[in-house]
Amino acid sequence: DAVARPIGARFGSALSSRPQGASADNPRYAALLRADCGVLVAENEMKWQHLRPAPDRFDFAAFDRIADFATREHMALRGHNLLWQRRKWMPRWLEAHDFGARPATEAARLLREHIETVTRRYGTRITSYDVVNEAVTPETGALEETALSQALGGTEATLDLAFRTARAAAPHAELVYNDYMSWEPGNAAHRAGVLRLLEGFRRRGTPVDALGLQSHIVTAGSDTAPSARAYEGEWRRFLDAVTAMGYRLLITEFDVRDNGLPVEVAARDRGVADYARRYLDVTLSYPGLRDVLAWGLCDRFSWIGPFEPRPDKAPRRPCPYDVDYCPKPLHAAIARALAEA
Ligand code: G3I
Repeated sequence: DAVARPIGARFGSALSSRPQGASADNPRYAALLRADCGVLVAENEMKWQHLRPAPDRFDFAAFDRIADFATREHMALRGHNLLWQRRKWMPRWLEAHDFGARPATEAARLLREHIETVTRRYGTRITSYDVVNEAVTPETGALEETALSQALGGTEATLDLAFRTARAAAPHAELVYNDYMSWEPGNAAHRAGVLRLLEGFRRRGTPVDALGLQSHIVTAGSDTAPSARAYEGEWRRFLDAVTAMGYRLLITEFDVRDNGLPVEVAARDRGVADYARRYLDVTLSYPGLRDVLAWGLCDRFSWIGPFEPRPDKAPRRPCPYDVDYCPKPLHAAIARALAEA
């Protein structure tokens, strides 16, 4: 964060509430957070699945511990998220919920109650919210549906209500639409779908301030520099279109999947760092981009290992610090990209 501040930017990370994990209760992880971060986000603890175990019950204990750490350490705090527009990642009870004779009314009540309860509890301690996470189907660019959005009368109406409720309940906060459309070639339909969604928000006057670029980037092979150069044009066209509509940008979940890179650690770490540097240089060239958050600081706890193991089963190395909490070339690459932006 110290290198980010001179350019008016902030570095930060996700953390969890697991005592032995990527949490403030793990002294070694807490030391990394203190050394590098000006802004924090909970990896899971604010999601509906965690915060709202039943329609009429909230459980804030795990997220409160994270929020208290941020307050004690004078770090900013982002809220992730107030609505995840994916059936799979919303609570099971929601898909089975009886929306009754007036489903739209009941769905709107549930959504408003959720957003108002969360935003009022944390007040100005949370300065920025991923109000909506991942509403676009990557393969087609279409909008995702859930039981909630179907009951409410459609995805657009649901997302609009989420943003309007958040603006009214937390007028101080930055309101973000967050998604993982990235710069690699397989993402064209996803990017087009996100642009259509953002255009719709503007047309309807929906209060959305920024696009969250998750930035789970993926290397394609041992020579990462040429592929990165090839991605740059499409990425700039996308970011130009987003910023032309008046949206700010932020990097919300940065990490690197080391696909196709040699298993040998030094070469792999160098490939990851070079690829990351290229991505950050292009993306940070957009002046409104002030926040860069990593999705975890330490390889030991990254979600990528369990979710998407390397075909050769070598442990993934997606984060700025390795399994022993030692800084990697990626750490230096992020610091230099921020210092030179
Ligand atoms: O805590 C339980 C544990 O008790 C249980 O034994 C274990 C068995 O499955 O599951 C544990 O919970 C897991 C949780 O992560 C904590 O590690 C869940 O199964 C698992 O689904 C959950 O995954 C999270 C995922 O979002 C879904 O919520 C990842 O940690 C988290 O990194 C990931 O983050 C997402 C962002 O929210 C949105 N953008 C993409 C990003 C990466 O997928």
